Amino acid sequence: MRLLVTGGAGYIGSVVSDQLLGAGHEVVVLDDLSTGHRDAVPAGARLVVGTLRDLAFEVLDGAGFDAVLHFAAKSLVGESVERPGLYWDKNLGESLALLDAMRRAGVPRIVFSSTAATYGEPESSPILETDPTRPTNPYGASKLAIDTALAEHARLHGIGGVSLRYFNVAGAHGPFGERHTTETHLIPIVLQVAAGHREKVFMYGDDYPTPDGTCVRDYIHVIDLGVAHLLALEACEPGSHKIFNLGNGSGFSVREVIDVCRQVTGHPIPAEVGPRRAGDPAVLVASSERIRSELGWKPERDLRAMVADAWAFARRG
Ligand code: UFG
Repeated sequence: MRLLVTGGAGYIGSVVSDQLLGAGHEVVVLDDLSTGHRDAVPAGARLVVGTLRDLAFEVLDGAGFDAVLHFAAKSLVGESVERPGLYWDKNLGESLALLDAMRRAGVPRIVFSSTAATYGEPESSPILETDPTRPTNPYGASKLAIDTALAEHARLHGIGGVSLRYFNVAGAHGPFGERHTTETHLIPIVLQVAAGHREKVFMYGDDYPTPDGTCVRDYIHVIDLGVAHLLALEACEPGSHKIFNLGNGSGFSVREVIDVCRQVTGHPIPAEVGPRRAGDPAVLVASSERIRSELGWKPERDLRAMVADAWAFARRG
């Protein structure tokens, strides 16, 4: 297929672009490089630098694209609380521009990076796709609005859409990995301690209603996540919008994650309990039954593999 990958210079977009190329697809990356890196785009892909608002139609029109994989987004929960307008504008506004460009150019399919943050504070665990969506921050709210827009575009304009609701993505795929200028995610921060770039890691709260008091999350390897995108691409059906959770279905606490990092790196990794971080739910674990049964997806890599691959990536320099 001829595919447009928005955000293909970012962490997840670059990994999936490489997997798509490996599967024999043709890939064009559209990225404004606001948080992505030019050198993260795999060699076999063509990079177009610019925003979806400015360039989506120009790139898609008359070029015979079969589908779009839409990763481009602002994705920091804390920043979204401080600057909600930015999140509505970049996430929802640019996605609407993309959907409009697809409709006008006749591109029939889209796979979209949605998030567990659309559910907000869950009432029960594991989280099902049919559970209530009550986002607790503008990041999750903007992603939920895009899911809704996709459903409407499917119903009213016949586009085939799949939203994949990611839980906590980790790991790396060879030279493609996580390198954010402002790092907020647990595993890369812990590995910065192991690499000597930070003195210690703060565990944000140890008084949650969980077995060891720290928050529990469902970690998924970025390679397994990418495999789900290839399956989702095949599952896009004209006129329908489908939603799938993407997680491993089991939870690990902050303490357990740090312990696995200690085992993998052999570094003592000093950790200290700090105050809670605003807006963190105690437990976020996915039910991934729907994608397992409907698309035959199965995660193959455990937390140790995620940490080992992220550590190998971190040490590449
Ligand atoms: N944590 C720490 N110390 C740190 C960093 C994180 O204790 O230095 C804790 C957090 O409080 C949380 C857990 O580690 O309990 C995981 O935090 P991350 O920041 O790695 O990931 P989140 O669970 O906050 O975020 C993920 C995605 C978001 C998505 C969110 C859904 O990265 O995009 O899940 O709530 F919005």
